[in-house]
Amino acid sequence: MDNKKTKPQENKVVKREVQVGGVRLKNPILAASGTFGFGAELAPHYDLSLLGGICTTGITLESRRGNPPPRIAETSGGMLNSVGLQNPGVSAFVTDILPEMLNYGCAIIANVAGNSTDDYVEMTRILNATEVTALELNLSCPNVSAGGMSIGTEPELVREVVVACRKQTDKPLWVKLTPNVTSISAVAKAAEEAGADALVLINTLLGIAVDLNSERPLLRNNTGGLSGPAIKPIALRMVYEVYRAVKLPLVGLGGISSAVDALEFMLCGASAVQVGTASLVNPELIFSLPEEMAEIAQAAGHDSLARYTGKLRPW
Ligand SMILES: Cc1cc2nc3c(=O)[nH]c(=O)nc-3n(C[C@H](O)[C@H](O)[C@H](O)COP(=O)(O)O)c2cc1C
Repeated sequence: MDNKKTKPQENKVVKREVQVGGVRLKNPILAASGTFGFGAELAPHYDLSLLGGICTTGITLESRRGNPPPRIAETSGGMLNSVGLQNPGVSAFVTDILPEMLNYGCAIIANVAGNSTDDYVEMTRILNATEVTALELNLSCPNVSAGGMSIGTEPELVREVVVACRKQTDKPLWVKLTPNVTSISAVAKAAEEAGADALVLINTLLGIAVDLNSERPLLRNNTGGLSGPAIKPIALRMVYEVYRAVKLPLVGLGGISSAVDALEFMLCGASAVQVGTASLVNPELIFSLPEEMAEIAQAAGHDSLARYTGKLRPW
């Protein structure tokens, strides 16, 4: 007998499919990078085909052991992490991990992290030759000393990386933005002009947690990225703002832990959403969200989830 959780009864009235920057998703719910691994731990227990897609943990050119522990700290309404892109490297991903992921029955989005433009270009070239659905350029990781966020805070560097990667691939190119900037719209516009197909926002907010007894930061890296419900209003505001600044489709995330949260992001302008920290708290949650969103839509008299995108009526 199949020991996986059975499929919830499908709400047939509400269309769940969405289109995001060259990708057709069967529903708007994706697992966020770094909070779902490569899906292997969950695959024996859950039906991953219930998801619109999975964004892989951040992949780098060479394998990385990540930062020394402690690298997770709980905070009010959220958590700080400084995992630092622990991953087996792009070659091992392509040969040992991706083949299994392609059986999951949902979109596979490769989250690409680098220290330099050359890193991003080389990884895009390698991943272009695979069957990943799309690439998510992580120009926003706050927990590594070079690249990532330091590129993502400078519109000109974002432009340079995206232009260079665009030349390497016709696959959908999503660009994940950091919230640790004064104007996220300026960075979003640079990515749009450079040829991105969609923008993903937001990554974590740079923070610090303190241990009064030892008079030291709780994280060995001193600072880390804040995620979870605490950041939701900021993430919603950024989606709202960027939706008005660019024409590209948006993928929204930051603190989503319910179907209502997910639909709020869509109202603010997201075509799809990702769930991160909430999956660490309750791994089951993400699988029930598409159905719950459809039920809410049906109760409100709507026939699709896509209709929510950008429907917020500001005062
Ligand atoms: C433990 C952990 C690891 C993460 N690793 C990555 C990563 O490798 N690449 C990336 O783009 N984002 C990474 N993120 C950021 C999440 O994908 C997401 O942008 C952020 O946590 C906000 O969403 P949430 O509040 O739903 O978690 C990580 C987040 C956490 C909590």
